[in-house]
Order: sequence, then C-alpha cells, then structure tokens
Amino acid sequence: MRNLGVLLLMVFIAPLAQAKEGMWLPFLLEQMNEKDMRSMGMKIKARDIYDINEGSLKDAIVIFGSGCTAEVISEKGLILTNHHCGYGTVQGLSSVEHNYLTQGFWAKNHQEELPCPGLTVTFIVRIDDVTEQVKQGIQESMEDSIQSKLIQANITQLEKQKKAETGYDVLIKSFFSDNEYYCFIMEKFTDIRLVGFPPNGIGKFGGDTDNWAWPRHTGDFGVFRIYANKENKPAVYSAENVPFKPRRSFAINIEGIEENDFTWVYGFPGRTTEYLSSAGVREVMETTDPIRIAYREKRLAIMKDAMSKDEKTFIQYASKQASIANYWKKWKGELLGLTKNNAIEKKKQEEAQFMQWVNNDANRIAQYGQLLSNLEDCYSKQQQAVAKNEHYNEGVWACELLKKASLLRDIHDALDTLSDWGLTEKYVKDLSAFYKQINKTTDYAFGKELLTDALNAMYPNDHLNVENLLDALFQKSILSSEENLKRLLAIKDKSIIKSEIEKDIAYKTFIYFDTDQKNNLTQLRESQQKITGLYKKYIKALREFKEGKQFYPDANSTLRVTYGNIQGVEAQDGMLYHWQTTLDGAIAKNNPNVTEFKIPQKLIDLFHTKDFGDYSIEKENGEKTVPLAFLATNHTTGGNSGSPVINARGELIGTNFDRIWEGTMSDVMYDINLCRNITLDIRYTLFIIEKFGEARWLIDEMNIVK
Ligand code: ARG
Ligand code: GLU
Repeated sequence: MRNLGVLLLMVFIAPLAQAKEGMWLPFLLEQMNEKDMRSMGMKIKARDIYDINEGSLKDAIVIFGSGCTAEVISEKGLILTNHHCGYGTVQGLSSVEHNYLTQGFWAKNHQEELPCPGLTVTFIVRIDDVTEQVKQGIQESMEDSIQSKLIQANITQLEKQKKAETGYDVLIKSFFSDNEYYCFIMEKFTDIRLVGFPPNGIGKFGGDTDNWAWPRHTGDFGVFRIYANKENKPAVYSAENVPFKPRRSFAINIEGIEENDFTWVYGFPGRTTEYLSSAGVREVMETTDPIRIAYREKRLAIMKDAMSKDEKTFIQYASKQASIANYWKKWKGELLGLTKNNAIEKKKQEEAQFMQWVNNDANRIAQYGQLLSNLEDCYSKQQQAVAKNEHYNEGVWACELLKKASLLRDIHDALDTLSDWGLTEKYVKDLSAFYKQINKTTDYAFGKELLTDALNAMYPNDHLNVENLLDALFQKSILSSEENLKRLLAIKDKSIIKSEIEKDIAYKTFIYFDTDQKNNLTQLRESQQKITGLYKKYIKALREFKEGKQFYPDANSTLRVTYGNIQGVEAQDGMLYHWQTTLDGAIAKNNPNVTEFKIPQKLIDLFHTKDFGDYSIEKENGEKTVPLAFLATNHTTGGNSGSPVINARGELIGTNFDRIWEGTMSDVMYDINLCRNITLDIRYTLFIIEKFGEARWLIDEMNIVK
C-alpha cells in the first residue's frame, strides 16, 4: 500500500521535476529541447523561437549596451529592459538640475525622447556553425599554444571574410571549451533614445538591501527606443532619424499567470562555469571570491559615507556603487551557497564516477587518465598569481586617479609621432571629464585603505608609505589638476615634456604597478592556456561519459534559451518563498527615512485610490492590488537582465532582473531545489508607465493581449 502511495506521488510530481538546468542554443532547440519544452506545456514551435529563413522571436531580442538584454515591444522600435541596465546611461544624462535617477523621466512624445550617446542595441541576424573552418589545419598532436594561435588566426580571417560578405558586424565564439565554434552575424544600432524611466524609489526600490533577495519589490525596468535612418538601417544620431520598424515585436499578455505555468527566457547570459573541476571550484571559494568580497566591502563603506553627504557625489558614484555592490553581494551569496551545499565534495563525487568510467577502458585511461590531476596541479601552481591579479584589480586600481595615470603613459608614448600640438587638447579634455566623475577626498580614501591592503597582501615585507605617495599624487603630480597638465603641454617641447613625465610620481607609480601586474599576467596566461587545453579534453570526455544526456555549453554572452516553471521554493530549512509579490508588499516596506525604501508619494496615492487600470489582481480577501514580481526555475545569470520572460504561447509576461540569494551559486553549480530567477511582472511595468508616468501613449503602441 505504502509503495503504491509513493509511486502515485512520484507520477503526480513528475511533470514538475522535468524542469531542468541549462542555457540552450536557440538554433539547436528543435533537435535538443523542443519535445521536452512541449511536454512541459509550450504551445509554440522551436521554429517560432529561432529560424534561419523566416522571421522568429529571435528578431525581437537585442543586446542592450554591452552587457544586458532587451526586447522589442512595439512596431515603432520601443524596447524594454531593466532599470539597472539603463542606470549608467541615465546617470550620464542627469545633473543636479535634472536628476532623472531620483525624479524619473517620462517622454510625452517622440520629441521629448532623449538621445543616449554611446548606447547601442544589437540584433542577431544569423548564427552559423563554423567549427570546421575554425579548426582547419589543427591536429590534436599539436601543442596547445600552437593550436590556439592557429585557431585565433583562422577566426580573425573568417570574421573578416564574413564581414565583407554580409556587411554586418561579425563575431565568432568558442563553445564547450573550444570544442565547437559559432559565428554571430549582428546588426548594431547607435541612435537609441530614453523614453521612460521610473525614479529610484520604484526602479531601484529596496536598493542593495533587497538586491539578490526575495521577497522582492523592485520595479526594475526602463523603456528606450531604437531610431534608424529613412531606409530603416542603423545610423548615428540625427534629428532626421525615425523610429525603427522591427522585423518582430512581442505581444504582451496581461491575462494573468499561475504557479507551475511553463515559462522561458530568451537573452544573453554572460558567464557561467558549470563544468569546473573540484580544484576550480576551490579556487573560486578560497581565492577569488574572498579577496574580491573583502576589498569591495571597504570600498562600499567609503562610498556610502561620501554619497550620503552631498548630491553631486551621489550622482558621481551612483552607477559605480551599484555595480560594485551588485557583484560584492553576489559573490557573498555564491560563497555561502557553495559552502553550505558542499560544492567541492559534490564535484569530487562526480569526478570519482567519471574516473571509474575512465578506468574501465585502456584507451580512455591513455586519453583522460591524467586530466583531473593535471587540472589540480595547474590550479595549485597558479594560486598565487590568481590572488595577485585580484589584489591589483580590486585593491591597487581602486584609486581611480592612480589608474588614470595611464593617460600620462599615453601622452609619453604619443609624443614621438606627434605632429600637431592642437591634438594634445584631447588629453586635457579627457582629464577634465575624469574629474567630473570623481570626488578627490573619496578617491584618496580608496587609495589609503585599499592600496594599503593590497600592498600588505602582496609585499608583506616592504613598507611603502602610502600616504606620502597619495599626497604627492593628489597634490603635486601633473595629474593633480587640469591646469598642471595644460601647463606642461603648453611647453610644446617633446623632450622636456617627456622628461617631466618620467619624473612624475603618478607616472612612475603607475608604470611600476602596471608592469608588475603585466608580468604576473603573462605567467597567469600561460597557466590559463594549459587549463583551457585540459578543459577542452575534459568537456569532450564528459560528453562521452554522459552520452545520451543533453549537454549545454557554459554561458558566453551569446543568445540562449532557458526554460522552466513559475515556482516558489523552500529556500532554507523551514522557509518557503511564495512565488509572487505585489504592490502591497512594496507599500508595506515603505520607509521615508531610508532612501532605499522611500516610495514616491504619487505611487502611495495610486495605491490608496486603487487606480490600477487593467493591471490588477484580486487578493483572497477580495481587495485589488498589482502583481509585482515572480519566481521561476529558469536558469539565468548576469546578462539575462532585461531578458523577456515568456509564456507558453510566446507572449511577454515579464522582464528578468535577478536571482534569489540562496541560489546565486548557480553560476558554478545549479540546483533546481534552490535556484530561482526573479521576474518583474509585465503588469507592474505597464501600471507604472500608464498611471505613474502618465505615458498612456506608450501603452497604445503596444500589442496587448487581454
Ligand atoms: N542583482 C541584479 C543583477 O545582477 C540587479 C542589480 C542592480 N544593482 C544593484 N546594485 N542593486 O543585475
Ligand atoms: N541582474 C543580473 C544582470 O544584470 C541578472 C540577474 C542574474 O545575474 O541572474 O544581468
């Protein structure tokens, strides 16, 4: 009887258990995932998602800027992404007079949309398998370094050729640790304009406290528009440009969602390392994560203090602070998760099974027998170099003025061939732009704290007087003011200028550290090359070992599909996360005394008058509220920010923006029982646009399914 019960229970749960990890290649969905996706509830075909010949949903997905995803949501080139993805751009458009970060921004018509210099949006036109061409002339017997040189040469040549053939941007990327290569043909648009952006009190609500956490109430979205020339082609900004007509745009579904609904995400996940060996995981847990966390903790404390003191400093550091805090917290969560879940032990168990398989066959022993021990050896040998590189990146260069001394090197190196002194004006401009983005007292404090720590860690026996160094850097060096630099360049004598630079403290210190780091990097690169060669074989072996099991390549900032179910989770022993949050929860967190949790009065008023438009749901007590965020089992990572979260019929139901704290380890080890992505419900986005931003004209251009 009992067994029957268990059996029935298993049958009952089975459909849910199908959800699985993986960031899948859109052009292989048909052969690898379509059946699975349809069995989980998907109503469209793999070809509706990606098709080389016909239009497909792929044509509504873009790379936003350099690291996020966005989706096209109207026939007039309107795109939706995360607030935090547009944050740097909007910071650049902001000033104390027009602070769009704290006030928000809503264009009332096309004329009011704001050009965003430097921002780009990139479509994927086509993806080709070029493995054979890239591997041309390669023999397995060749040394790793020779192989990689040949491959690089092939890639460069092929990219050139494809660019000439197509006229588009071309990028070839390696998959499965250099076992396969795919070519991405891309179209990049450069006239992008800001259309709608909620204030921090909505778009960044909960700030760093709630970041990477559930329950979540951040209205993390921003709306932009792609402009093109009259031929609908990419063009630099011009008042003559017109809204871009996309090949495809998303229909938006506001009918409502439920737990266990099938859902999938289309976007550009940045980087994962799911196939690391146990020694690789150890490196993350014992070297890189802890070093990074420690430096960032200090840097953030200094920033917090400075930013709370005045608004100018707040704006200067808002975006830097957000990105530093973001990964600081992620690494903390990752380290905690990996530790709690015995990641190294788990990897070791998997490795033992793998070795058993290897040891069953003489051929395999010859090919793969030493792989894991060689990896272990490489990791242990490179440990110091890895640590040192982190001390440089996170510690030494935290002082931005010290890093900026690269400008003196550039001037020094450019002097020999300089033909026109007028050209040197750009250096002064560069320095004055730099000074607009930093606060000297704050930057000095970074140096005093972090540079000191880094030097102590790297050279415990040398005692450099960091304060003397910083005093000279900030008060006496050529870089200490734009005037100093101007005065130097005004001498217009190459050899005098050169010798002045060579005597300069900023220059000398920079060259010393830069050279030291580069030497370390050379050593590290050699070791990395070996490691890459070993992973190439290891992944190949793993695919043979797990024959029949679908394999996905690690994220590498290329277009992927991930799928799963809307679902809550038991995140910690005895702690259940309900799958959905609502506006009620945001209002409950409102705290006018804490900036991160201060909700704009207008939203509070909308909440009280229950003016929710078409976007409300009914609670159990019969009252109305607006759904805000939801959890799902989609396997996502950084870069998936702004990605469309899509229902079984291919319609937009939300925008991906985060993961839960307990599952941040998913970049190294995904666990369906712990990992959840966090999505902003599209109804909250539309509610804010229509009722808070009063930008109904934007809703009117969307295709909304009710
Ligand atoms: N954690 C999310 C992501 O990785 C959101 C980050 C927003 N930044 C922040 N510091 N709150 O991008
Ligand atoms: N917020 C992340 C990003 O900027 C996405 C969340 C994640 O890392 O899963 O891409």
